[in-house]
Amino acid sequence: MTSEKVHVEVCKGVNGLDKVVLREIRGSSAEVYLYGGHVTSWKNDHGEELLFISSKAIFKPPKAIRGGIPICFPQFSNHGSLEPHGFVRNRVWSIDSEPAPFPLNSSSKTFIDLILKPSEEDLKTWPHSFEFRLRVTLGPGGDLMLISRIRNTNTDGKAFSFTFAYHTYFSVSDISEVRVEGLETLDYLDNLQNKERFTEQGDAITFESEVDKIYLSTPTKIAILDHEKKRTFVLRKDGLPDAVVWNPWDKKAKAMADFGDEEYKHMLCVEAAAVEKAITLKPGEEWRGRQELSAVPSSYCSGQLDPRRVLQST
Ligand code: BG6
Repeated sequence: MTSEKVHVEVCKGVNGLDKVVLREIRGSSAEVYLYGGHVTSWKNDHGEELLFISSKAIFKPPKAIRGGIPICFPQFSNHGSLEPHGFVRNRVWSIDSEPAPFPLNSSSKTFIDLILKPSEEDLKTWPHSFEFRLRVTLGPGGDLMLISRIRNTNTDGKAFSFTFAYHTYFSVSDISEVRVEGLETLDYLDNLQNKERFTEQGDAITFESEVDKIYLSTPTKIAILDHEKKRTFVLRKDGLPDAVVWNPWDKKAKAMADFGDEEYKHMLCVEAAAVEKAITLKPGEEWRGRQELSAVPSSYCSGQLDPRRVLQST
C-alpha cells in the first residue's frame, strides 16, 4: 500500500455491507457504502457528523439507505416510468482499481473510485448500456467532493437521456432555525402541486411546513445556514443546473417506515440535480456532474447571520 493510500480503508459496515472509510490527517472523515455508491457519513475534524442518517435506516437491499447522499440515476424521483430515483442507489457498486484518466486536478490523495455497469436485469427495465464512475474525495480541509462520470456504452448506436441528483441529507440542529441562501427569486417546480411552476418570493428560504421543490437554473453556490449550530454548509456544483429542496415534515415522516417521526426536525435535503432538462448522451459520450460540500462557521454582521458574505467568499 502506498503512503497516500493509507487514508483509504475498505471494511465492513452495518449488516456486513462493504464500506470505504476516508480519513484526513486533521481528523475529518467520510464513509462510502458500495451498496448504492452511497456516502453515509461525513465528519469534520472535531468528529461531528455533518450528514443526516435516519436511526431507522435499513442497510439492506433492496431499500436505499435513508440519509447520507443517495445517487438518483437514471431518473429523479417519479419524473418518468422507472422506480422513484432510479436504480443505482440500490445496486452494489465495485471499487474501480484502474479508473479512466481523470483530467481534473485535486490536491487530495484521499479518494475512492467506484464503478457501476448495468446488469442483465437492469437492461430489461432501462435498455441502455452505461459506465457510471463515481469519485468521492475528502479534501485536506475536510471538504467532500463527489464527481460522477457517466458514459453511454450502447453498441446499438442509440442515445439515452437521464435525470440525476445527489440527494444530500444535511444534518441540522433544528429545521426552524435553518435558512437557505442562493435560491430566492428563482423559479421552481412544486412537487406538492403537480410539478407546477412558481417563482420564489421574498428573502431567504426558511421552513415551517413540508417542502418538495425543484429550483431551476440555480447558481453554482448555495448556502445552508444553521443558526443554532452557527454553521454554514456551502454547496458548490458543476454540470447540475437545478437544486431540489426537500423536508417531509411531520405527516410524511410518520408515513415512512425508515424514518423517525421527529427526525424531520434534524435534516434538510438540498440536492444538486439535473431534472428540468434531461441530459442526453450519444454512444461514446460522457457527462460529468460535480458536487462539493464544505462546512464553515457562520459569519456574523451586527449579530445577524450574513449569508451574502458566505456566498461571496470563495
Ligand atoms: C426527494 C423528492 O428528492 O426525495 C421527494 O423530491 C421524495 O418527492 C424524496 O419524497 C424521498 O424519496 P425516497 O424515494 O427516498 O423516499
